Amino acid sequence: MRKSLRALALTLVCLFSVFCLPTMAGQKPAEDAVLIVAFGTSVKKARASYANVEQQVKAAFPGREVRWAWTAHSLLRTASPGNAMPTVQEALAKLAAEGTKNVSILSLHVIPGAEYNDLLRTARAQEGLPKGLRQVRLVPPLLHDTDSLREVARLLMQSLPKERKNDEAALFVGHGTHHAAGVFYPALQYYLNTLDKNVFVGTIEGDLDFDAVLKQIRTRGARKVWLAPLMTVAGDHASNDLFGADPESWRQRFLKNGIQVQGIAKGLGEYPVFVNRWVEELKQLGKMGKPETAMSTTRVR
Ligand code: CO
Repeated sequence: MRKSLRALALTLVCLFSVFCLPTMAGQKPAEDAVLIVAFGTSVKKARASYANVEQQVKAAFPGREVRWAWTAHSLLRTASPGNAMPTVQEALAKLAAEGTKNVSILSLHVIPGAEYNDLLRTARAQEGLPKGLRQVRLVPPLLHDTDSLREVARLLMQSLPKERKNDEAALFVGHGTHHAAGVFYPALQYYLNTLDKNVFVGTIEGDLDFDAVLKQIRTRGARKVWLAPLMTVAGDHASNDLFGADPESWRQRFLKNGIQVQGIAKGLGEYPVFVNRWVEELKQLGKMGKPETAMSTTRVR
């Protein structure tokens, strides 16, 4: 019995050295990595959206190191117990220390607001340091120029359920901001309007608030609204501000105003069209001779 155990242990050691040692010895640090950066969420269920993005990125870049960072500092410690999510700075520093040379950052932000601009600054500071990262490139936020506005408007229309009737309103509610990039929300409203007069954009913070949107929906005479978050994850804002039981939620206020609500509680990361777009943008970053997509051109002050 003892003998056979020893034989087994010996066999295992041999197997280990045959299969593991050469790869351990020959393991070079990954030259290229993808860093996915999101705001973060405290809602566990909402992470399905992030998981889906990660899965698609890994499938598109097999063998490439894929890491995460969150920009909402208050949420980092809540990511998972005993396993905090790194900041962008921490994630980039770690990759550099491991010998990574090129990092493609996939920003899951919707607009180039304060969060995105902080990310941009951090990324730029980490680029080209001696013995550090050679190149850091960023995929811009979903909305960042006229082409992206036109394209996102088209994709949002595509993502609406087929059961929605033409005379029913659809409303996408974004986070909103007091940053200058808040103009992207009314701009998106414009492009959506060129496709469908009954599709609207609202924001939880800022000028496109419930009253402003209600007024517009009333002028169209719609009796029903399809309500969806315009956010990467359907997290806290979706479950409370949009769909909550509180009389202040958008759902309850619509009901109080005699407008039926059909909730679509999905984050953008749960729609294949948006995830495909992110993956496509990442692929574009990797193409040489495309300085247009390097971070210097995505600067928004
Ligand atoms: Co918020």
